[in-house]
Amino acid sequence: MTYAEVYESWRSDPEGFWLQAARAIDWHRFPSQALSEEADPVPLWFPDGMVNGCHNALDRHVAEGRTHDIAIIHDSPVTESRTEITYGELLGRVARLAGALKARGVTKGDRVVIYMPMVPEAIEAMLACARIGAIHCVVFGGFAARELAVRIDDCKPKAILAGSCGIEPNRVVAYKPLLDQALREADHKPEFCVILQRPQAMAAIEHGRDIEWHDFQEEAEPADCVPVEANHPAYILYTSGTTGRPKGVVRPTGGHLVALHWTMKNIYATEPGEVFWAASDVGWVVGHSYICYAPLIHGNTTVVYEGKPVGTPDAGAFWRVIAQNKVRTFFTAPTALRAIKREDPEGRMARDHDLSALRAIYLAGERADPDTVAWARDVAQVPVYDHWWQTETGYTITGNPVGIEPLPVKDGSSTVPMPGYDVHILDEAGHDRPRGELGAVAIRLPLPPGTLTGIWGDEARFRRSYLSTHPGYYTTGDAGMIDEDGYVSILARTDDVINVAGHRLSTGGMEEVLADHPDVAECAVIGVSDPLKGQLPMGFLCLNRNCGRPPEDIVGEAVDLVRERVGPVAAFKLAVVVERLPKTRSGKILRATMAKIADGEDFAMPATIDDPTILDELRAAIAPLGYGMTKTEKTA
Ligand code: COA
Ligand code: AMP
Repeated sequence: MTYAEVYESWRSDPEGFWLQAARAIDWHRFPSQALSEEADPVPLWFPDGMVNGCHNALDRHVAEGRTHDIAIIHDSPVTESRTEITYGELLGRVARLAGALKARGVTKGDRVVIYMPMVPEAIEAMLACARIGAIHCVVFGGFAARELAVRIDDCKPKAILAGSCGIEPNRVVAYKPLLDQALREADHKPEFCVILQRPQAMAAIEHGRDIEWHDFQEEAEPADCVPVEANHPAYILYTSGTTGRPKGVVRPTGGHLVALHWTMKNIYATEPGEVFWAASDVGWVVGHSYICYAPLIHGNTTVVYEGKPVGTPDAGAFWRVIAQNKVRTFFTAPTALRAIKREDPEGRMARDHDLSALRAIYLAGERADPDTVAWARDVAQVPVYDHWWQTETGYTITGNPVGIEPLPVKDGSSTVPMPGYDVHILDEAGHDRPRGELGAVAIRLPLPPGTLTGIWGDEARFRRSYLSTHPGYYTTGDAGMIDEDGYVSILARTDDVINVAGHRLSTGGMEEVLADHPDVAECAVIGVSDPLKGQLPMGFLCLNRNCGRPPEDIVGEAVDLVRERVGPVAAFKLAVVVERLPKTRSGKILRATMAKIADGEDFAMPATIDDPTILDELRAAIAPLGYGMTKTEKTA
């Protein structure tokens, strides 16, 4: 079948399409119905199905005789180690950890926070939760203690599973002091914490609350899989919204399994047994879907890579991992390729490795700039496919259906909607924009299986953020266009979310932190273009009249404050003190205009601007940071 035929088969019978796809999953009770329209606020998939995620990721492969196949390769240049774990071994480890959690009273529906670096135990922890129906909530290691505390207070975990440290190229990041601080700040207290000690930074154990990973499991009886309803939450994953309070995206179990399994063949064109590598982190959605769940559900080998594209030890790291582990499908973010390209522009290091196993590179997380795509294609000598998705969807909205029929690649476009997604470009009134014209990207409801069913504990915010702007549609928060051939290009966000090195961050959240500085009267944070990370946050600070302190001191403190409260991953290093901020007459800060000025782009003077001369002041203030020059000035 062609892509057009498959897409049409979904369109003409969405329920039949997904019920058919659901047959690839082992159900304890196969759903008698595909979609329950009665559910509120969104329809729910497979309403009466009963299923277990861990069973589909592990037990069923072992039952089918694949005990000795490799499930996980832990490739860790930062610890100079490489470990293989078979499906049989992984099942044993996960069942025991699940048993230990169960023995301590963790049951179906309880939340478990996982705060771990890129080690196999992080995957074990996720699957152990899935095994007993506990809802995991993985928090990325690059966030500060306060971000962890916010998540703990929101999802109220019964237990926390943490590593003692993560290893960055330039330092060992002790996680345990961050966890301890988060627990001091959080109102909610978990019943216990399980700590995986790593020799690079052993953690101080607080007796009575903390238990060492291996001691915790020593006496445990392996736990069996607990069947759960298809719409039981598999996990909560927090993502940035427009404010500092993150949104806990709730992922339903059954739809998640069905959709991820479908993507492995149809989008990634991979067969069970092949090696699949998503170079992301378990703390992000890519890590949930394509380091942990999808490859294991589909019976692939997944690579858990503890390293960076550059610096561990050099820009040849990715090519080495691909060659040594015979990676067939490789998934990364454009920023990682830009980092490699910057250090090895001619791709010489790729030539030192045998990349013959590699079949394709997939990119997501941010807009794939055509230069980087062309460079990667040239260096790796394989097709490079951009695909667009979000934490909320958990998998591809628009991509190249390579396993159905590889479509011609158009650089700058993430190709076409996948079955399940009816993508529209809307104007403010909710009407479809003509082909080739920019607008808000929205998806006609219902969303397909596996996409979010809510925001944890906040249905009103779920409705407000995603469902109310254009009734009948899910609002993606992205702006883009569809061309004459139906190809979709995603160009920018429509909200105060920025994308820094493939990481989604809230400028509103950073503003909240800066506003807490005692000398800051008012502030704004915008995203400015960066050749490596795509975007970087830039802060503008207006100081209290009587402040009297050197502006550079306050800038330094502001940078430290964001690092301390949001985390190093925010990469907040650019800030300036200004007299005033450009505003509309009604007092709204003109952030979009500020961003255009910083990037040296043309812009129309907003009709509602209070005082246009502020824009020149602004340009002068950021010139020392290397921003604000027009294209002509840059060329000169
Ligand atoms: N734990 C603790 N700290 C972390 C961390 C973690 N898991 N991950 C990142 N950090 C820290 C880094 O050490 C760095 O700190 P620094 O300011 O002291 O140097 C800071 O957070 C920013 O990190 P990062 O975004 O990784 O930037 P970088 O300059 O170190 O590296 C790239 C740049 C492009 C190599 C890197 O961003 C990268 O590999 N990006 C790919 C991201 C990706 O795959 N995203 C997947 C989304 S689909
Ligand atoms: P996250 O939820 O962290 O995965 O971030 C999702 C956001 O990243 C999207 O809403 C887009 O703004 C951006 N994004 C992800 N993939 C792409 C892509 N292929 N092209 C353009 N933007 C992308």
